[in-house]
Amino acid sequence: IIGRIVAVIIGYCFGMILMGYLIGKSKNIDLTKVGSGNVGSTNTMRNLGVPAGLITLLWDCTKCIVAVVFVWLTFHRFFEDTNIYMVYAGLGTVLGHDFPCYMHFKGGKGVASTLGFIIALFPIGVPIPAVIFIGIVAITRYVSLGSIIGVLSFAAEMIVFALCDVKSVTDRFQGRELTEVLVICCFVSALSIALHHANIKRLLSGNENKFSFHPETRA
Ligand code: G3P
Repeated sequence: IIGRIVAVIIGYCFGMILMGYLIGKSKNIDLTKVGSGNVGSTNTMRNLGVPAGLITLLWDCTKCIVAVVFVWLTFHRFFEDTNIYMVYAGLGTVLGHDFPCYMHFKGGKGVASTLGFIIALFPIGVPIPAVIFIGIVAITRYVSLGSIIGVLSFAAEMIVFALCDVKSVTDRFQGRELTEVLVICCFVSALSIALHHANIKRLLSGNENKFSFHPETRA
């Protein structure tokens, strides 16, 4: 249990580094007060431009990979099997991103960091949510809708991978650990959906911002 807690804390420290918020601060723009008020890449792109949005997406995703690799590098000296600790590092990163202590625990919605979680821990799980996300955003131009259904598909596919005994998952996690991993994946997915509550309201009332690369039509 100590190992799991330490892994979560390490992940949390990486997760708290919010690139969009920092870029905004450097330009005297507080992302929590403009656009959707979110510090993620969508709102960064909306208010600070495409390059800033892409850098935010890249870092918010990469920080999870960095945290997972960091935990693997440090923990393998003490534990024979570090896989479960790496998952906890990923969980910690998402929590750090969503609830950074220096921002009164009000951070992002965890979509890019969940993508980093999937890339770092379950690369086999990347294609389905990615295709779903891109497809939905291309058709509807609602990033939030793509994000919500994308993260939901991640939890669903993980359950299917476990039930179908997909080796890249079940070779690393069995029994109680596999259940733990599935609970974490479902939690990460549910958390991101819950954090989209304002987007869900706007989607239902038809007021959600549509994505655009062109500043003049950006909401
Ligand atoms: O990743 C967040 C995205 O799904 C929605 O962003 O700024 O429109 O709330 P935003």
